[in-house]
Amino acid sequence: MEKKRILSGIQPSGNLMIGNYIGALKSWVKMQEEYDCYYVLVDMHAITVRQDPKILRRRCYDFIALYIASGIDPEKSAIFIQSHVSAHAELAWVLNCITYTGELNRMTQFKEKSVKNIKNINAGLYTYPVLMAADILLYQAHFVPVGHDQKQHLELARDLAQRFNSLYSDTFTVPKPYIPKVGARIMSLQEPEKKMSKSDENINNYIALLDEPDIIRAKIRRAVTDSNTSIEYDNNRPGISNLITIYSIITEKSFDEIKDDFKNKGYKEFKDDLAEVIIEYLKPLQNNYKRIRNDKQYLEDVLKNGKEQAFRSARKTLSKVYRKVGFIQPT
Ligand code: TYM
Repeated sequence: MEKKRILSGIQPSGNLMIGNYIGALKSWVKMQEEYDCYYVLVDMHAITVRQDPKILRRRCYDFIALYIASGIDPEKSAIFIQSHVSAHAELAWVLNCITYTGELNRMTQFKEKSVKNIKNINAGLYTYPVLMAADILLYQAHFVPVGHDQKQHLELARDLAQRFNSLYSDTFTVPKPYIPKVGARIMSLQEPEKKMSKSDENINNYIALLDEPDIIRAKIRRAVTDSNTSIEYDNNRPGISNLITIYSIITEKSFDEIKDDFKNKGYKEFKDDLAEVIIEYLKPLQNNYKRIRNDKQYLEDVLKNGKEQAFRSARKTLSKVYRKVGFIQPT
């Protein structure tokens, strides 16, 4: 039986952090065993916000090395860069022509990002979810492992696939989101009512995957909790509940087990323990990273292979789409 397809992506912006790992990368690693996986670094999405070209270039290599250091195996999965496969931009155009502006007006991430980038509310930021739909539909992906914040974009991708299929006959697989039950929305350490974000200006809001042990200790120590004392998950106590969620995912202990373990202990002991748990969890990844990031030739080879695999698959879909909408094949 043919394996089902997975596609997912991350933007090379800010610092890859523990929320991206728990919400997405962790599932990516697990899914490679069972599925045919395509993992893309979406550099074209990143320029919807102003980027320094030099930093963007360096960060693309950093992120690809982090994909691999996290356990994405280039022998099992295609790892590639979005701008290397021009079919993403080409399909996005066709999908733009079947997307209603009303649908884009409803996108909550566009609204949030517009508030943050008041001087640069560009058309790319607005049509970004259409490019994301193209990323997914090009590969006929069955499942898309993402955190909770991407759910609305996924719904648009599904709607566009269904709309195209009914307008022009069956062409696209209708993708399903794969969102983890716990950890799909890791919250900010200093402002636990908003989600943790890798491009947050305040680096104390997140634990970067490459943070040194002392930095991790300091960030966790400073994490906002509340005036209560019990180590107990409670929706009305977002700070401590977020820390318990992270602890639970890493140690694979249930919320009840954690509550019992820390019954007669306070926040300080819990935070000290959590910091050490995170440090140990990230250690193998950080050790792998240094080695991989220093081997530029290896990274280039991985990207070349990934691009070739992605290109073949993407072209097949794009040719079909061009034919169906009535474009004449070039001779
Ligand atoms: P991006 O780069 O913002 O985030 C990458 C992945 O990390 C997840 N994530 C989180 N999960 C849990 N808690 C958090 N606080 C948290 N913050 C981020 C995101 O949900 C995402 O899975 N638009 C996408 C990139 C993209 C994409 C795609 C994804 C472009 N094309 C096609 C899937 C398929 C984005 O900006 O993710």
